[in-house]
Amino acid sequence: MKKIEVELKEKPYPIFIGKNIISQILPKQISQKYSKILIISDKNVAGLYGNELNIILKKTRKPVYSINVASGENSKSYLQVERIHKFLLKNNFNRDSLIVGFGGGVVGDLAGFVASTYMRGVDFCQIPTTLLAMVDSSVGGKTGINLSGSKNIIGSFYQPVFVIAETSFLKTLEEDEWICGLGEILKYSIIATTGYFNFVKRNIKKILVRDDKIVERIVFESVKIKAAVVKLDEKEAGLRKILNLGHTFGHAIESILNYKIKHGAAVIAGLLLIADLSKRVGMLQEKDFVQISNLLQGFTFNHSLKKLSTDGMLNLMLKDKKSRNDKIKFVLIKKIGYLVIDADVNEILIIETLQNAGDILK
Ligand SMILES: NC(=O)c1ccc[n+]([C@@H]2O[C@H](COP(=O)([O-])OP(=O)(O)OC[C@H]3O[C@@H](n4cnc5c(N)ncnc54)[C@H](O)[C@@H]3O)[C@@H](O)[C@H]2O)c1
Repeated sequence: MKKIEVELKEKPYPIFIGKNIISQILPKQISQKYSKILIISDKNVAGLYGNELNIILKKTRKPVYSINVASGENSKSYLQVERIHKFLLKNNFNRDSLIVGFGGGVVGDLAGFVASTYMRGVDFCQIPTTLLAMVDSSVGGKTGINLSGSKNIIGSFYQPVFVIAETSFLKTLEEDEWICGLGEILKYSIIATTGYFNFVKRNIKKILVRDDKIVERIVFESVKIKAAVVKLDEKEAGLRKILNLGHTFGHAIESILNYKIKHGAAVIAGLLLIADLSKRVGMLQEKDFVQISNLLQGFTFNHSLKKLSTDGMLNLMLKDKKSRNDKIKFVLIKKIGYLVIDADVNEILIIETLQNAGDILK
């Protein structure tokens, strides 16, 4: 088992990572002060692992309630927030209660938002069950729901009291969901150091076949990178923006394809495009570009990304909530481990990258 302390000034908390650790760790983390517990999950995860979690939580001898939402992005809604708030109220949950977010990023974002807003904040913990939730969404305290088609437009920064990444849950994850997590792992490999990039490159096949030891190590290293960034910039005033690497193109690709492409695949495509753009602006050297694209091009895209509408993509990138004053802001790559945030780029170069996407996104 591995443990990382997320060192935030106001509310530090531990993240435990490992296989078959949950039955030992979870009861120990449930403080005596909690009067009752609500598990928020989705129907898939509850069907697969709900019983197991209930049995573990029963050991705490506290009343345990469960509420399950439909799986998928649509559950990140006011409708579900209201439903859960009403459930909490009806069952006399108060500030001595604990909310457990048990599932992927959808459940984690929803549970965190519910917890941050009920009675102005009750404790919550995360038990992420997807690779993406383990390496990304359960770390850093961003919670959120969607509104009128705008993703994560309503939300809060609200840190959990602890996180347990039980990697045995990953065995049932569908292949395309695995790639979702992988997109973020590849992003971290470019953000971190050449040493880590080479480690990911050497072990990419083992990651794809879900080798236990490598998965535990990769989750650990990814969480360590994200926790270090969040520690320095909890509310995304500056440095945390590096975590958006590849996402400006990635979000626009998801949107232009009506979300028929998985987030992870769109992020991988976005990373390839940003590497190309970084080279075009003269920031990324050819040899570093080749290293990055060799790692990323191993993944085939099930969607035609060869003819991305340039105007459509530019408009979508302008609408991204990270763009400012009608300017698209990019995170560019200088070298592996060196990024530049808030970069303005000459539109001609962005258009060139989009027009040549077919050569990069094979
Ligand atoms: N808060 C943040 O910092 C942050 C960061 C990145 C992404 N997100 C959010 O995360 C969400 C995406 O998260 P996600 O990729 O985990 O998707 P998800 O929560 O929709 O889960 C994907 C699918 O996998 C199923 N599933 C979950 N665990 C499983 C398991 N162990 N075995 C089998 N099936 C399982 C779910 O039921 C669902 O159908 C998005 O809403 C995104 O906005 C948040």
